[in-house]
Amino acid sequence: MTASQRQREMDSKAHVSESDSECYYPMSGGDGLHSYSHNSTLQKKGLEAVKELVETTIQDMLEFDKLNISGISNTFSIADFGCSTGPNTFIAVQNIIKAVQLKYNSLHQNDPPLEFHVFFNDHINNDFNTLFRNIPTPQEFFAAGVPGDFHDRLFPKASLHIVHSSFSVHWLSKIPEEVTNVRSPAWNKDSIHCTGFSNEVVAAYSTQFQKDVVNFLNSRAQELVVGGLLVLLIPGLPDGVHCSEPHFGANYDIMGSCLVDMVKLVRT
Ligand SMILES: C[S@@+](CC[C@H](N)C(=O)[O-])C[C@H]1O[C@@H](n2cnc3c(N)ncnc32)[C@H](O)[C@@H]1O
Repeated sequence: MTASQRQREMDSKAHVSESDSECYYPMSGGDGLHSYSHNSTLQKKGLEAVKELVETTIQDMLEFDKLNISGISNTFSIADFGCSTGPNTFIAVQNIIKAVQLKYNSLHQNDPPLEFHVFFNDHINNDFNTLFRNIPTPQEFFAAGVPGDFHDRLFPKASLHIVHSSFSVHWLSKIPEEVTNVRSPAWNKDSIHCTGFSNEVVAAYSTQFQKDVVNFLNSRAQELVVGGLLVLLIPGLPDGVHCSEPHFGANYDIMGSCLVDMVKLVRT
């Protein structure tokens, strides 16, 4: 990493206030070696895997007749929740735009082309500068950043035609309190994640996830227009597979044990 790239990464973290940093952990900003934009191939593969499904769903289920788009008011609004710094968000948005154009052109040959308004949402301390610097050219849409917590309302009622979110909705709004409480049966001891081996810990994380998803869906239900679409890509595990078993779970185990060792060193 060059000195200027390192400085840019540091700058992107510098403006995080104490209270924000307690709750939100943005992806690594900038476009240096360790940035999210250079370390998100797994998420990109996920988007590529569902591309065809998204296209056919838009063809089959987007109800243009209900969307109230015609004549002068031909703006089509898309929002990506938990967009991070790119480039995956652009891949997702471009796929959606292509599929929507295809469907619209087949139905409205004599109408003016659609104009796309794309809203990029993430936490306030996300590196939006890197995101906007890297919007692909020629730009096919009008872009806007919408900072804030997607568990709350972020848009006016019935203002979005397609809502998208990939690899973001599984993020919890907070660590469930019981797992950090030594007196609780759900205390997670030395583990930094939900390994899946303690029923009480699993229940605590599941309950928090359910609350968060309900808040997310309730908010989007108000923001989406009738006839619009919600596209969610959320990583998951088959029933019976513990979170420690796949490679990412094993990584958390290793990271957790390193952190515990570091804490012990500081304490001795
Ligand atoms: C793993 S990244 C996924 C980025 C991108 N969607 C992709 O597929 O590559 C998850 C993103 O969700 C954001 N995020 C998590 N919780 C959020 C919340 N409550 N509100 C807004 N953004 C959130 C994080 O800040 C992070 O940038």
